Amino acid sequence: MRNITISFFSLVLLLGVAAGTPQALAAAAAAKGAAAAPAKDTVAAPANDAAAAAPAPAKAANTFNRLMRPKSERNPPPPGDGIHDSENQGTHQLQPPKEAFANLATSNVGNYVNWVQSLKNKAVTPRYDRLDPNAEALILELDIVREVKGTMPDVVYPHDRHTEWLDCSNCHPDIFIPEKGKNVISMAQILMGQKCGVCHGKVAFPVSECRLCHSKPKTAAAKPK
Ligand code: HEC
Ligand code: HEC
Ligand code: HEC
Repeated sequence: MRNITISFFSLVLLLGVAAGTPQALAAAAAAKGAAAAPAKDTVAAPANDAAAAAPAPAKAANTFNRLMRPKSERNPPPPGDGIHDSENQGTHQLQPPKEAFANLATSNVGNYVNWVQSLKNKAVTPRYDRLDPNAEALILELDIVREVKGTMPDVVYPHDRHTEWLDCSNCHPDIFIPEKGKNVISMAQILMGQKCGVCHGKVAFPVSECRLCHSKPKTAAAKPK
């Protein structure tokens, strides 16, 4: 009789101590259910509860964030890309990006093509002669260094890698006055789609690639490894 009293007492004590944790509450609920249910269900009930408590496996990555697409879903064909009208017959005539990009150098961001490298490899050849058969590219070898306040490396704007694709009039004078230091540029403007952000993040590599623009270390100590 004495033994039974002690063990019952310690059980109450144990439950009291454990009651604070959610697992303990769930275990207590499961035990209660098991006790109330008919005998053949007593084994199954706690197992079912455990399965219900486990989180459902994720079906896919968060596709709201286009940067988090799994590799297989990158650059979908035009009818399924959420940009083109899938009911328009013309959309189905468009070449799927994966086919068009097959021979191009790859990158991990944007549309996953390294366009600068692809141009260097001659995998793409811009058509300067589209309107005038005698037109030639006017490639300007001029780097503009923009000193950045704070600890970020300075920005180097390379004319050559832009004028291999673009005409001077794509930037001058509407986006940038062609005179060093005449333009006020800030990261806030770029993120809002102005200045460099007119293209970067839309048709050129995205703003997440800090080091491609901020490429000139201020001191030897600040050099990227
Ligand atoms: C993608 C945009 C872009 C294109 C295309 C472009 N530039 Fe520029 N250019 C700039 C930026 C940015 C600056 C720097 C302005 C500043 O520092 O305030 C600049 C500065 C200049 C300057 C001033 C240099 C100095 O030291 O004062 C000249 C001259 C110039 N560009 C000529 C050209 C010519 C010629 C072309 C075509 C062959 C061209 N640019 C194409 C963006 C561009
Ligand atoms: C008119 C469109 C346009 C504007 C404006 C523009 N860029 Fe670009 N930029 C491009 C394109 C197109 C490329 C080549 C494609 C790519 O790399 O995604 C490029 C490439 C570059 C590269 C070469 C990256 C590499 O891999 O070598 C740098 C650096 C760069 N841009 C910096 C800037 C900076 C800094 C500004 C603002 C001062 C700017 N760009 C403004 C269109 C633009
Ligand atoms: C497309 C080119 C480009 C990319 C990509 C880029 N920046 Fe900038 N950033 C600039 C330019 C241009 C300036 C203005 C420099 C000046 O003062 O003339 C600037 C300025 C800044 C400044 C100084 C303060 C300000 O707002 O002007 C900071 C800090 C900065 N960038 C951080 C970053 C970080 C962090 C990233 C990556 C998440 C990044 N930048 C990506 C071009 C770029």
